[in-house]
Amino acid sequence: MVFYFTGTGNSLYIAKQLESNPLSIPQVIHQSELEFSADKIGVVAPIYGHEVPNMVKDFLKRTSFHTDYFYIILTYGNRHGGAAELTKQLCDECGITVSYINVVLLVDNWLPSFDMEEQQKIDKNVDGQMSVILHDLNARKKMISEVTETDRAAHRQFLQFTSQAPADSWQHLIQITDRCIGCGLCEKVCPSASIHIENGKAVHIPGNCQTCLACAHVCPQKAITTSIPEKNPNARYRNRNISLNELIMANEQRGN
Ligand SMILES: Cc1cc2nc3c(=O)[nH]c(=O)nc-3n(C[C@H](O)[C@H](O)[C@H](O)COP(=O)(O)O)c2cc1C
Repeated sequence: MVFYFTGTGNSLYIAKQLESNPLSIPQVIHQSELEFSADKIGVVAPIYGHEVPNMVKDFLKRTSFHTDYFYIILTYGNRHGGAAELTKQLCDECGITVSYINVVLLVDNWLPSFDMEEQQKIDKNVDGQMSVILHDLNARKKMISEVTETDRAAHRQFLQFTSQAPADSWQHLIQITDRCIGCGLCEKVCPSASIHIENGKAVHIPGNCQTCLACAHVCPQKAITTSIPEKNPNARYRNRNISLNELIMANEQRGN
Protein backbone atom coordinates (compact mmCIF):
# COMPACT_ATOMS: atom_id res chain seq x y z
CA MET A 1 0.00 0.00 0.00
CA VAL A 2 1.51 3.30 -1.15
CA PHE A 3 0.11 6.82 -0.66
CA TYR A 4 1.38 9.86 -2.54
CA PHE A 5 1.05 13.61 -2.98
CA THR A 6 2.19 15.27 -6.20
CA GLY A 7 2.11 18.67 -7.89
CA THR A 8 4.02 18.04 -11.11
CA GLY A 9 4.29 14.25 -11.27
CA ASN A 10 7.71 13.51 -9.75
CA SER A 11 6.32 11.90 -6.61
CA LEU A 12 3.65 10.02 -8.59
CA TYR A 13 6.38 8.68 -10.89
CA ILE A 14 8.28 7.38 -7.87
CA ALA A 15 5.12 6.02 -6.19
CA LYS A 16 4.24 4.07 -9.35
CA GLN A 17 7.59 2.31 -9.20
CA LEU A 18 6.75 1.12 -5.69
CA GLU A 19 3.21 -0.03 -6.49
CA SER A 20 1.15 -0.04 -9.68
CA ASN A 21 -1.90 1.66 -8.14
CA PRO A 22 -0.75 4.08 -5.46
CA LEU A 23 -3.39 6.04 -3.55
CA SER A 24 -3.75 9.82 -3.81
CA ILE A 25 -3.52 11.57 -0.43
CA PRO A 26 -5.60 14.58 -1.66
CA GLN A 27 -8.43 12.12 -2.42
CA VAL A 28 -8.02 9.57 0.39
CA ILE A 29 -7.88 12.32 3.03
CA HIS A 30 -11.61 12.99 2.55
CA GLN A 31 -12.57 9.47 3.72
CA SER A 32 -14.47 9.48 6.99
CA GLU A 33 -12.26 6.70 8.39
CA LEU A 34 -8.50 6.97 7.99
CA GLU A 35 -7.26 3.58 9.13
CA PHE A 36 -5.14 1.27 6.97
CA SER A 37 -3.53 -2.15 7.44
CA ALA A 38 -0.95 -3.76 5.18
CA ASP A 39 2.27 -5.75 5.33
CA LYS A 40 4.14 -2.63 4.12
CA ILE A 41 2.86 0.95 3.95
CA GLY A 42 4.68 3.72 2.10
CA VAL A 43 4.20 7.45 1.62
CA VAL A 44 5.78 9.40 -1.25
CA ALA A 45 5.76 13.20 -1.16
CA PRO A 46 7.71 16.21 -2.38
CA ILE A 47 9.84 18.31 -0.04
CA TYR A 48 8.65 21.90 0.46
CA GLY A 49 11.02 24.04 2.51
CA HIS A 50 12.73 20.83 3.71
CA GLU A 51 9.44 19.40 5.04
CA VAL A 52 6.47 17.51 3.66
CA PRO A 53 3.47 19.52 2.33
CA ASN A 54 0.88 20.56 4.93
CA MET A 55 -1.68 18.12 3.55
CA VAL A 56 0.76 15.24 4.03
CA LYS A 57 1.46 16.38 7.60
CA ASP A 58 -2.28 16.44 8.20
CA PHE A 59 -2.67 12.96 6.67
CA LEU A 60 0.09 11.53 8.87
CA LYS A 61 -1.43 13.15 11.97
CA ARG A 62 -4.97 11.92 11.33
CA THR A 63 -4.34 8.39 10.00
CA SER A 64 -3.85 5.12 11.87
CA PHE A 65 -1.41 2.85 10.05
CA HIS A 66 -1.25 -0.82 11.03
CA THR A 67 1.91 -2.31 9.57
CA ASP A 68 5.25 -3.78 10.54
CA TYR A 69 7.07 -1.71 7.92
CA PHE A 70 6.20 1.97 7.37
CA TYR A 71 8.41 3.96 5.01
CA ILE A 72 8.58 7.43 3.45
CA ILE A 73 10.23 8.48 0.19
CA LEU A 74 10.74 12.23 -0.26
CA THR A 75 11.33 13.78 -3.68
CA TYR A 76 13.30 17.00 -3.97
CA GLY A 77 15.13 19.04 -6.55
CA ASN A 78 18.14 20.73 -5.05
CA ARG A 79 18.66 20.69 -1.27
CA HIS A 80 16.75 18.42 1.11
CA GLY A 81 17.85 20.41 4.17
CA GLY A 82 17.56 17.46 6.53
CA ALA A 83 14.03 16.57 5.43
CA ALA A 84 14.46 12.93 6.48
CA GLU A 85 15.23 13.95 10.07
CA LEU A 86 12.40 16.51 10.16
CA THR A 87 9.96 13.93 8.79
CA LYS A 88 11.14 11.36 11.35
CA GLN A 89 10.37 13.93 14.09
CA LEU A 90 6.92 14.45 12.58
CA CYS A 91 6.30 10.68 12.59
CA ASP A 92 7.38 10.51 16.24
CA GLU A 93 4.92 13.30 17.09
CA CYS A 94 2.18 11.38 15.23
CA GLY A 95 2.98 8.12 17.04
CA ILE A 96 4.04 6.45 13.78
CA THR A 97 6.90 3.96 13.95
CA VAL A 98 8.80 4.63 10.74
CA SER A 99 11.35 2.06 9.56
CA TYR A 100 12.82 3.79 6.54
CA ILE A 101 13.02 7.34 5.14
CA ASN A 102 14.98 8.15 2.00
CA VAL A 103 15.20 11.04 -0.47
CA VAL A 104 15.25 11.07 -4.30
CA LEU A 105 16.68 13.95 -6.33
CA LEU A 106 14.59 14.87 -9.41
CA VAL A 107 13.75 18.02 -11.38
CA ASP A 108 13.24 21.02 -9.09
CA ASN A 109 9.83 22.49 -9.93
CA TRP A 110 10.22 25.66 -7.77
CA LEU A 111 9.70 28.34 -10.42
CA PRO A 112 11.22 31.29 -8.51
CA SER A 113 14.65 29.64 -8.29
CA PHE A 114 14.90 27.28 -11.23
CA ASP A 115 14.60 27.41 -15.01
CA MET A 116 12.58 24.33 -15.97
CA GLU A 117 14.29 24.11 -19.37
CA GLU A 118 17.72 23.98 -17.73
CA GLN A 119 16.54 21.61 -14.97
CA GLN A 120 15.31 19.08 -17.51
CA LYS A 121 18.73 18.91 -19.16
CA ILE A 122 20.40 17.72 -15.95
CA ASP A 123 20.74 13.96 -15.55
CA LYS A 124 20.01 13.28 -11.88
CA ASN A 125 20.30 9.49 -12.28
CA VAL A 126 16.80 8.85 -10.95
CA ASP A 127 16.91 5.20 -12.07
CA GLY A 128 20.14 4.65 -10.14
CA GLN A 129 18.70 6.25 -7.00
CA MET A 130 15.52 4.18 -7.33
CA SER A 131 17.31 0.88 -7.79
CA VAL A 132 18.99 1.41 -4.39
CA ILE A 133 15.65 2.31 -2.77
CA LEU A 134 13.79 -0.63 -4.33
CA HIS A 135 16.51 -2.98 -3.13
CA ASP A 136 16.33 -1.48 0.40
CA LEU A 137 12.54 -1.77 0.54
CA ASN A 138 12.59 -5.38 -0.69
CA ALA A 139 15.04 -6.17 2.09
CA ARG A 140 12.86 -4.22 4.60
CA LYS A 141 15.92 -2.22 5.49
CA LYS A 142 15.74 0.04 8.56
CA MET A 143 17.34 3.41 7.88
CA ILE A 144 16.75 7.15 8.12
CA SER A 145 18.68 8.92 5.35
CA GLU A 146 21.77 10.73 6.63
CA VAL A 147 21.48 14.38 7.64
CA THR A 148 24.56 16.61 8.08
CA GLU A 149 25.16 19.76 10.12
CA THR A 150 25.18 21.69 6.81
CA ASP A 151 21.65 20.38 6.09
CA ARG A 152 20.45 21.45 9.53
CA ALA A 153 22.05 24.89 9.11
CA ALA A 154 20.30 25.27 5.73
CA HIS A 155 16.96 24.58 7.38
CA ARG A 156 17.63 27.02 10.24
CA GLN A 157 18.55 29.70 7.68
CA PHE A 158 15.37 28.96 5.72
CA LEU A 159 13.22 29.26 8.86
CA GLN A 160 14.87 32.56 9.75
CA PHE A 161 14.25 33.87 6.22
CA THR A 162 10.60 32.80 6.09
CA SER A 163 9.86 34.09 9.61
CA GLN A 164 10.39 37.61 8.27
CA ALA A 165 7.49 37.27 5.81
CA PRO A 166 3.83 37.61 6.88
CA ALA A 167 2.45 34.26 8.14
CA ASP A 168 -0.05 33.94 5.28
CA SER A 169 2.32 34.97 2.48
CA TRP A 170 2.51 31.42 1.06
CA GLN A 171 -1.26 31.51 0.63
CA HIS A 172 -0.78 34.42 -1.77
CA LEU A 173 2.01 32.84 -3.81
CA ILE A 174 -0.25 31.99 -6.74
CA GLN A 175 -1.30 34.82 -9.04
CA ILE A 176 -3.70 34.53 -11.96
CA THR A 177 -3.17 37.03 -14.76
CA ASP A 178 -5.60 38.23 -17.42
CA ARG A 179 -4.07 35.79 -19.91
CA CYS A 180 -6.42 33.19 -18.30
CA ILE A 181 -8.95 31.81 -20.81
CA GLY A 182 -10.89 29.82 -18.21
CA CYS A 183 -9.99 26.37 -19.60
CA GLY A 184 -10.22 24.87 -16.11
CA LEU A 185 -7.10 22.65 -16.21
CA CYS A 186 -5.74 24.41 -13.10
CA GLU A 187 -8.91 23.54 -11.18
CA LYS A 188 -8.59 19.87 -12.20
CA VAL A 189 -4.97 19.45 -11.08
CA CYS A 190 -5.32 21.39 -7.82
CA PRO A 191 -5.07 18.90 -4.91
CA SER A 192 -6.76 21.22 -2.43
CA ALA A 193 -9.69 22.72 -4.38
CA SER A 194 -8.01 26.12 -4.13
CA ILE A 195 -8.85 27.18 -7.69
CA HIS A 196 -12.29 27.59 -9.22
CA ILE A 197 -13.54 28.92 -12.53
CA GLU A 198 -15.87 31.85 -12.03
CA ASN A 199 -17.35 33.82 -14.91
CA GLY A 200 -14.95 32.15 -17.35
CA LYS A 201 -11.80 32.95 -15.35
CA ALA A 202 -9.73 31.06 -12.78
CA VAL A 203 -9.91 32.37 -9.23
CA HIS A 204 -7.43 31.32 -6.54
CA ILE A 205 -8.84 30.90 -3.04
CA PRO A 206 -6.19 31.22 -0.35
CA GLY A 207 -6.47 29.22 2.86
CA ASN A 208 -5.67 25.63 1.98
CA CYS A 209 -3.29 26.15 -0.97
CA GLN A 210 -0.44 23.63 -0.76
CA THR A 211 1.79 25.79 -3.04
CA CYS A 212 2.48 22.67 -5.13
CA LEU A 213 2.51 24.83 -8.30
CA ALA A 214 0.51 22.21 -10.22
CA CYS A 215 -1.79 24.99 -11.50
CA ALA A 216 1.07 27.21 -12.69
CA HIS A 217 2.93 24.39 -14.43
CA VAL A 218 -0.13 23.01 -16.19
CA CYS A 219 -1.62 26.27 -17.48
CA PRO A 220 -1.43 26.25 -21.31
CA GLN A 221 -1.53 30.08 -21.37
CA LYS A 222 1.18 30.48 -18.68
CA ALA A 223 -1.44 32.69 -17.07
CA ILE A 224 -0.64 31.46 -13.56
CA THR A 225 2.53 32.84 -12.03
CA THR A 226 4.14 33.18 -8.62
CA SER A 227 4.24 36.40 -6.61
CA ILE A 228 8.01 35.87 -6.27
CA PRO A 229 9.56 36.57 -9.70
CA GLU A 230 10.22 33.46 -11.76
CA LYS A 231 13.57 32.39 -13.13
CA ASN A 232 12.09 31.65 -16.56
CA PRO A 233 8.42 32.66 -16.94
CA ASN A 234 8.23 30.81 -20.28
CA ALA A 235 9.26 27.41 -18.95
CA ARG A 236 6.91 24.93 -17.34
CA TYR A 237 7.29 21.33 -16.17
CA ARG A 238 5.53 18.02 -15.79
CA ASN A 239 7.42 14.79 -15.13
CA ARG A 240 7.86 13.28 -18.57
CA ASN A 241 6.68 9.85 -17.42
CA ILE A 242 3.36 11.17 -16.11
CA SER A 243 0.55 12.18 -18.49
CA LEU A 244 -1.67 15.19 -17.96
CA ASN A 245 -4.58 12.81 -17.49
CA GLU A 246 -2.74 10.94 -14.72
CA LEU A 247 -2.08 14.25 -12.96
CA ILE A 248 -5.76 15.14 -13.18
CA MET A 249 -6.76 11.67 -11.92
CA ALA A 250 -4.30 12.11 -9.05
CA ASN A 251 -5.53 15.47 -7.83
CA GLU A 252 -9.07 16.09 -9.04
CA GLN A 253 -11.38 16.90 -6.14
CA ARG A 254 -14.51 15.16 -7.39
CA GLY A 255 -17.28 16.49 -5.22
CA ASN A 256 -14.95 17.24 -2.30
C1 LIG B 1 6.66 25.19 -2.53
C2 LIG B 1 7.84 24.34 -2.95
C3 LIG B 1 8.93 24.22 -2.09
C4 LIG B 1 10.02 23.44 -2.44
N1 LIG B 1 11.06 23.31 -1.56
C5 LIG B 1 12.11 22.55 -1.89
C6 LIG B 1 13.20 22.41 -0.96
O1 LIG B 1 13.20 22.91 0.16
N2 LIG B 1 14.29 21.70 -1.38
C7 LIG B 1 14.34 21.10 -2.63
O2 LIG B 1 15.34 20.50 -2.94
N3 LIG B 1 13.29 21.17 -3.49
C8 LIG B 1 12.19 21.89 -3.15
N4 LIG B 1 11.13 21.98 -4.02
C9 LIG B 1 11.14 21.15 -5.27
C10 LIG B 1 10.31 19.88 -5.14
O3 LIG B 1 10.50 19.26 -3.88
C11 LIG B 1 10.63 18.84 -6.23
O4 LIG B 1 10.67 19.39 -7.49
C12 LIG B 1 9.64 17.67 -6.13
O5 LIG B 1 10.20 16.53 -6.74
C13 LIG B 1 8.32 17.97 -6.78
O6 LIG B 1 7.51 16.85 -6.70
P1 LIG B 1 6.13 16.70 -7.46
O7 LIG B 1 6.46 16.77 -8.96
O8 LIG B 1 5.62 15.35 -7.08
O9 LIG B 1 5.24 17.80 -7.05
C14 LIG B 1 10.03 22.76 -3.70
C15 LIG B 1 8.94 22.89 -4.56
C16 LIG B 1 7.85 23.68 -4.20
C17 LIG B 1 6.68 23.78 -5.15
